[in-house]
Amino acid sequence: MIVVTTPTGQLGRQVLAGLVDRGEAVRAIARDPSRLDVGVRDRVQAVQGSHDDPAVLDTALKGAEGLFWLVPPDPTATTAEAHYLGFARPAAAALRRHGVARVVGVSSAGHGWPVRAGILSAAFAIDAEIERRGAAYRALSMPFFMENLLRQLDAIRDHGVFSLPNAADRPLATVAIRDIAATALALLADRLWDGQENLPVFGPDRLSPREMAEVISDVVGRPVSFRQLSIAEVVSGLVQCGASEGTVRDLAEAIAAGNDGIYDADQTASTPTPTDFRTWCRDVLRPALLA
Ligand SMILES: NC(=O)c1ccc[n+]([C@@H]2O[C@H](COP(=O)([O-])OP(=O)(O)OC[C@H]3O[C@@H](n4cnc5c(N)ncnc54)[C@H](OP(=O)(O)O)[C@@H]3O)[C@@H](O)[C@H]2O)c1
Repeated sequence: MIVVTTPTGQLGRQVLAGLVDRGEAVRAIARDPSRLDVGVRDRVQAVQGSHDDPAVLDTALKGAEGLFWLVPPDPTATTAEAHYLGFARPAAAALRRHGVARVVGVSSAGHGWPVRAGILSAAFAIDAEIERRGAAYRALSMPFFMENLLRQLDAIRDHGVFSLPNAADRPLATVAIRDIAATALALLADRLWDGQENLPVFGPDRLSPREMAEVISDVVGRPVSFRQLSIAEVVSGLVQCGASEGTVRDLAEAIAAGNDGIYDADQTASTPTPTDFRTWCRDVLRPALLA
């Protein structure tokens, strides 16, 4: 039995579908099981609730040998670390109670960075919490998800622009969610590994935002440019969305660490995944813009 958290999220839904396709027995923890994709809903055991609840974890992890673990972001939390540990602590205890053999967790690239890096440091704190309790663990360590750009479909379609707080000419490491899901699937289906490792998962290219704009323009067939957001603009956007002071600080630290090269060492250590940015734009971004 393999347990999947966040089965309705971008990454979790692909992991869930892949496990079901392989014929694995799967349990999915969902706040609202009616939101599970129609194609899998009848083929998995659903456990209703949130995976920060020890009682929900006890129901879901009974007899489980593997767990796909992801902490959902919450910008309204007091701090990212308090929020992430609020999920990781009950999970680490439940993993031990139920003797779950292997955990594949969603972390962030940048392990070993010498200073605090906000939400990225909070992800490293999750890894430490799970590892401390002795579970066999792979921390999938990713840079910027290409799918983050899907939040800017309107700006790209209507104004020919996308914006990020990243420097226009500094290469930005990225990865496609389908490649992260494929890595998670392979690990969950493999019963032979043990120990605890950080596993960097990076796409094959590393374009600057300005170069990304050129690729997008080429693939969608009209000009799209990049605009660098100031930290003040990011902060104001976050505050308007109800983000807490702590989360704003955590995001600002993560942005600064990204511009200072926090992902560089993990990218060097990674084996590139198949999907490059141009392929992702053709397969995912362009259809989304046309939809
Ligand atoms: N974006 C990046 O560039 C990047 C880079 C590295 C790492 N990451 C990590 O990737 C993860 C985000 O993955 P994603 O994009 O797949 O997330 P997502 O699409 O935002 O999905 C969030 C999932 O969490 C569920 N959820 C939300 N609040 C919940 C709660 N309180 N209790 C239980 N479930 C809850 C949602 O389900 P319902 O709403 O249906 O209940 C949904 O299934 C984060 O941990 C982030 O740190 C992101």
